[in-house]
Amino acid sequence: MSDPAPRPVQTTLVSAPGKAFLIGEYAVLEGASAVVTAVDIRAQACAAPAPGRTSEVVRAAHAEILRYLRDRALADPGPPPIVDTGSFRLGARKIGLGSSAAVAATVVGFLLEEAGIKLASAEGRAAAYELARSGHRQAQGGGSGADVATSICGGTLRFKDGEATPIALPGWLRIGFVDAGAPASTASFVQLVREAALRTPDPYSEAMRDLQNASREFLAVLSDADAGQQSEAVLFAALKGAVDLHNRGLRALQQISEAPIMTPTIERILEVAADMGLAAKPSGAGGGDLVVVFARSQAALDVLADRLRRDHNIDLLAGLRAGAAGLRAEPRTPRCSRIPGFFRLAVQERRQRLATACGLDPASFDALDPGALPIEKANHLIENVIGVLEVPIAVATNFRINGVDYLVPMSVEEASVVAAASNAAKMIRAGGGFVAHSDPPWMIAQIQLCRDDAVGDAARVRAAIESERTALLELADAVHPRLRARGGGPRTIEVRVLAEDMVAVHVVVDCRDAMGANLLNTVAEALAPRLHALSGWRVGLRILSNLADRRRAHISARISPATLASRDFEGAQVVDGIVSASRFAELDPYRAATHNKGIMNGMDAVVLATGNDWRAMESGAHSYAAQGGHYRPLAVWTKDEEGWLVGQLTVPMAIGMVGGATHVHPVARLALSILGCTSSAELGQVIAATGLASNLAALRALATEGIQRGHMSLHARTLAVGAGATGDEIETLCARLIAGGEIKHDRAVAILREVRQLEKSAARS
Ligand code: MEV
Repeated sequence: MSDPAPRPVQTTLVSAPGKAFLIGEYAVLEGASAVVTAVDIRAQACAAPAPGRTSEVVRAAHAEILRYLRDRALADPGPPPIVDTGSFRLGARKIGLGSSAAVAATVVGFLLEEAGIKLASAEGRAAAYELARSGHRQAQGGGSGADVATSICGGTLRFKDGEATPIALPGWLRIGFVDAGAPASTASFVQLVREAALRTPDPYSEAMRDLQNASREFLAVLSDADAGQQSEAVLFAALKGAVDLHNRGLRALQQISEAPIMTPTIERILEVAADMGLAAKPSGAGGGDLVVVFARSQAALDVLADRLRRDHNIDLLAGLRAGAAGLRAEPRTPRCSRIPGFFRLAVQERRQRLATACGLDPASFDALDPGALPIEKANHLIENVIGVLEVPIAVATNFRINGVDYLVPMSVEEASVVAAASNAAKMIRAGGGFVAHSDPPWMIAQIQLCRDDAVGDAARVRAAIESERTALLELADAVHPRLRARGGGPRTIEVRVLAEDMVAVHVVVDCRDAMGANLLNTVAEALAPRLHALSGWRVGLRILSNLADRRRAHISARISPATLASRDFEGAQVVDGIVSASRFAELDPYRAATHNKGIMNGMDAVVLATGNDWRAMESGAHSYAAQGGHYRPLAVWTKDEEGWLVGQLTVPMAIGMVGGATHVHPVARLALSILGCTSSAELGQVIAATGLASNLAALRALATEGIQRGHMSLHARTLAVGAGATGDEIETLCARLIAGGEIKHDRAVAILREVRQLEKSAARS
């Protein structure tokens, strides 16, 4: 049996979701209904350690609550909380998902809880709605209130004439959101549309009629589904009809208002979705950076995500789900990965700080004491066990990915890797943090078919298998009913002719949160007899492929020249140096190998700490780097038009959050709790971000003072500790080792002896 998960420390955090329009964002202005859903990116409020700067919305919400409490002769709950809205951003870019309404909701919610009025009570919820609404209205100067209502209530709401009513979405309906890029315009579309209504009233009314009818038809689908009327297929066709009508109305509005509502990117997304039989439309009237897609299965959304990313470099925002919970108080602290001076603390102090930052019980860190993996447990992990190899585990600070903070556990024997990653993450954080996307968790099972003495050509074998694709997929689907229940399962079958006498059949399987090796191998073995019967060819190998190029993590970061500058180098020089280093790696596989080794320094350390298979990670990364026949750098660095450095890394990410050592090893379990990831995709993004940070740190050093200076000071520290130095002795010893230029163990021992003798004499005199 595995150990219990580390216990959390209880503190209060109040959070509220963002919102996205499903339909009716323009029609609601003319009194029709809109449908709005809460999306699970959240503003988070917690007690401010010290008074700080507050925004207009925070001040207005705070004033409202003070008035409310004073009217009831209740005690003043104190200053406003600090509110984190980082997850509403992709790097420095804010996505239009109603962050200001979520801020108003969390401020009001936090202060009500502080005043003893529970948000879970009817009174608390009603007060939160009224106060957040009026605070938000004052700060924003108007607004329909749909966003505040959604932030407070969560779920999905029908919104009409200021009234919000919860409505149910059909259980089969899957909703995804696609990032359509930076807003097409900063001008208010609503304002442009209003002006057009005055200029060209007839075409405006016609467009509005389409939009209102679309809303009505959409709502009719929801109510038919709720009443159990019509089949899923009929309902989806009607929903698609409503969405298409809405798009027609939007195109007409665009024409008369000249607001860039349907940008070329949005039209492309709509086209790809339509080609796959899905319904898609822009979401929101605020600037056109989001498209909502409706499908009948998660698998269909994943296929769309795959096509958009591969063919158009457009991302589905995989973490953004509809129908999120509303305003709530949670028993936990917000995770902050900025812990200044963490490296200076003693081990026990670090554990204490980490426990607080992650809301974990300090006692759970005992799992990190030497001997944490008992020999009996180790003996069950592998064969012929004779002991346990201990490697240090550390935590890298400063990581912020898609607006969320992570403290990153890293297990590695090489000095400077953790410090370098933390330092680079700090620079990236200053530019808005990492932006991350993930492919769906699709892995490949391979079945090799060989002609040997049989007859037939490879093309015929391919045709025979492709004609049976549906039946083969059904067979593969039956292999793992539990995976299907978790939303995974086989997605497609591809046939690759490798030679006239050899064919590889690929079964692409959605592994959800498992790494998937075992389940892929079972699928391959289960399908093999049927493939033999179809082809008449001998079945060879049946095994997963570690070239996991259908399950990649994509990470990018942007860093200003000023952040990169050092004592001896100007920022622009450093940017050019790193871009040139990146080009060196693109042109030369000898350099690319070392460049990628630096990336794996970070990635492997997290993979190991979380109990994942680092050999699979290595083979996936390097085979991906060599795709196309030329070994390439996994991360490349360029300079953008503002002179900032931009890094991009794409890498296969065959890792899991369930099964294997991630579950059994006590340290891996604690590492996952420190990270706080909830899916393998999220964990993969952290791993890839650590790789990009490690690469940045190495290139910055190499392009400026060289790698040795930093290495040597860290090496000196390792030697000082190894020689037995403790407390202040460590810094003294480091300084003397570096000054002497002889950074060796014997020298460290000798200096330590001298230091201690001097101290003894000083104490005697
Ligand atoms: C050393 O572990 C890694 C580096 O060689 C990476 C690189 O050269 O980019 C510093």
